[in-house]
Amino acid sequence: RKRCIRISTGSKQLDACLNGGFQTMSISEVYGEFRCGKTQLAHTMSVIAQLPIEMGGAEGKVAYIDTEGTFRPERIMEIAERFGGEVPRFPFPFPGANATVVDPDQACENIAYARAQNSEMQTELLEGLASNFTTNEFRLLVIDSVMSLYRTDYSGRGELSERQQALGAFLRRATQMAEEFNLVVLMTNQVQSDPGASALFAGADGRKPVGGHVLAHASTTRLLLRKGRGEERVAKIVDSPDCPEREATYIITTGGIND
Ligand code: GTP
Ligand code: MG
Repeated sequence: RKRCIRISTGSKQLDACLNGGFQTMSISEVYGEFRCGKTQLAHTMSVIAQLPIEMGGAEGKVAYIDTEGTFRPERIMEIAERFGGEVPRFPFPFPGANATVVDPDQACENIAYARAQNSEMQTELLEGLASNFTTNEFRLLVIDSVMSLYRTDYSGRGELSERQQALGAFLRRATQMAEEFNLVVLMTNQVQSDPGASALFAGADGRKPVGGHVLAHASTTRLLLRKGRGEERVAKIVDSPDCPEREATYIITTGGIND
């Protein structure tokens, strides 16, 4: 039987709220307004996932589906530098990998990156990853962001049910893969201003994630991010199977998400 693993977020406070981080075998969704750090969290976790278990990592490779063109290898290298020196040598579980996990170039090489141009391609890329995942080297799958292409491709009012159907198929496959290949599936999501949002979805600022019930149902853990005072950012667990609703603050640094 596969053992569930947790991958650290880079913030000790946030990890504490999440019982150590986001867990494998289910979908975790992070949503919030622009510039709150969703993409930075995805970058940070793409590095941490490669670290030893003792460091909050999962000793695994990463697959990254980018729908907005905001992935930056330079950021991965900067974040990898943060962990430089802390683990001098670490034997990678997969062949051909560098023995030093913190090597910035290696950190990039361990990320299978793909840019999706439309929602159909987003699904195709996911399916294509299945063969990579069978090697059992991968522990994190990032989708940044999950809804943007669906919103563009199905923008008409009459297309909503069609959109939700396609989205449902994508999410079912992602859930399946999370379970089958023991992956943390980290999806970022946008928010929609909705003063009438139900208590189930409404955040502190009256915003709710897009994707409706289909996405709400698929996400096992939901985290709402927002801007706090100054450089501070606030994360709130809004839905989790094993963590109470709590808030944590974090900051975005050159080394990624931190306390
Ligand atoms: P959208 O995708 O637009 O919805 O936003 P997001 O939630 O993905 O925001 P993102 O993760 O891109 O965070 C942007 C924030 O990260 C900005 O406030 C940047 O200033 C900050 N940021 C990005 N790179 C760095 C960096 O190298 N150092 C520091 N200190 N901050 C950074
Ligand atoms: Mg982003």
